[in-house]
Amino acid sequence: MEPVEVKQGIYWVGGIDWDLRNFHGYITQRGSTYNAYLIVDEKIVLVDTVKHYLFDEMLARIRKVVDPSKIDYIVANHVEMDHSGCLVGMAEIAEKAVVLTSPKGEEGLRRHFKKDLNFRIVQNGETVNIGKRDLQFFHMPMVHWPDSMATYCPQEKLLLPNDAFGQHIATAERFDDEVPFDILREEAAKYYANIVLPYGSQVQKVLHALSSLEIDMIGPSHGIIWRSHIPDILAAYEKWANNDTDKKALIVYDTMWGSTRKMAYALKDGLEECGIPVTMRNLELTHISDIMADVLESRAILIGSPTLNKGMMPTIGALLTYLTGLCPKKRTGMAFGSYGWAEKSVGEIEEAMKAMKWDVPIDGPRIRYVPDPEELEEVRETGKQLGAIINK
Ligand code: FEO
Repeated sequence: MEPVEVKQGIYWVGGIDWDLRNFHGYITQRGSTYNAYLIVDEKIVLVDTVKHYLFDEMLARIRKVVDPSKIDYIVANHVEMDHSGCLVGMAEIAEKAVVLTSPKGEEGLRRHFKKDLNFRIVQNGETVNIGKRDLQFFHMPMVHWPDSMATYCPQEKLLLPNDAFGQHIATAERFDDEVPFDILREEAAKYYANIVLPYGSQVQKVLHALSSLEIDMIGPSHGIIWRSHIPDILAAYEKWANNDTDKKALIVYDTMWGSTRKMAYALKDGLEECGIPVTMRNLELTHISDIMADVLESRAILIGSPTLNKGMMPTIGALLTYLTGLCPKKRTGMAFGSYGWAEKSVGEIEEAMKAMKWDVPIDGPRIRYVPDPEELEEVRETGKQLGAIINK
């Protein structure tokens, strides 16, 4: 339960959730952390708290540095309970502490906890002096909730942006140069795809606001702290916020008796003939939150379902519901699938793609019962047509 001094007088005092495997439906194979930061100055400040069941762990770390009852300010950057879960408990221990939060933060925290905490609302850009240091607050609505804000310390060039730039990963290490960068980028991408993706225009505004700040450390509220790969993670956020993708395709499908699977692989062959790298995902084997990580940087998304009863397979329905909520933009889509006597699924998938304003340039292939070699050849040709469009 040791705290980690990330800068002189500034400590990581969060909690490590080694066992977390599901974060409201997002599969977290590597666990997560909830990062809280303690700033010791003339005033003692705790920035964010942790999920409720890690309260003792956070408290033990704080106690190694200061008496928690001496905390003057608790910054609530975000209402969601993975960060506010111990706010009431902390306020009971640090009785005189003022809770600094955004206007929406106060509203949300009151709705969550039904407590009249010692709130002080901070406006966008407002600065609070804590001794040798200042803390400046930047509202970041919808990155991730309407209440979200970042805390910035200009003297330390330290940004604490809560969910932004986070990753769900539990590690003994705290910094980005202590964990292989590929793993961190993968987890940061999956995090963005599942949590931040719908809010690209808000992320662009945040990136614009941050561009005028001097930053040499970014301490998000999940995962490791960025100090060596700041330009890399900022560039990745810029790319993702713009919905910029790579010239590659993702084929997601489910299958009943293997016909739609055969079509999926014929499409893959056609796309590959055009030099397009293709990722194959069978929905029976892959979770939708992992699929989202593939969606994030793929320009073409092909979704296949046989017709089951009067529509698509439920796995594909769940994927489309999730996808529609996260709403990736600027994608080229194509649906495909087999059927027995009444074809329904392909049109339904195409409708969902068009509702997300995807370009759907080709009427998706539909095959009755089981494809023969000639039909698979036609499907492969359709894959080539799509490949030519992506290559334009
Ligand atoms: Fe990590 Fe939106 O909470």
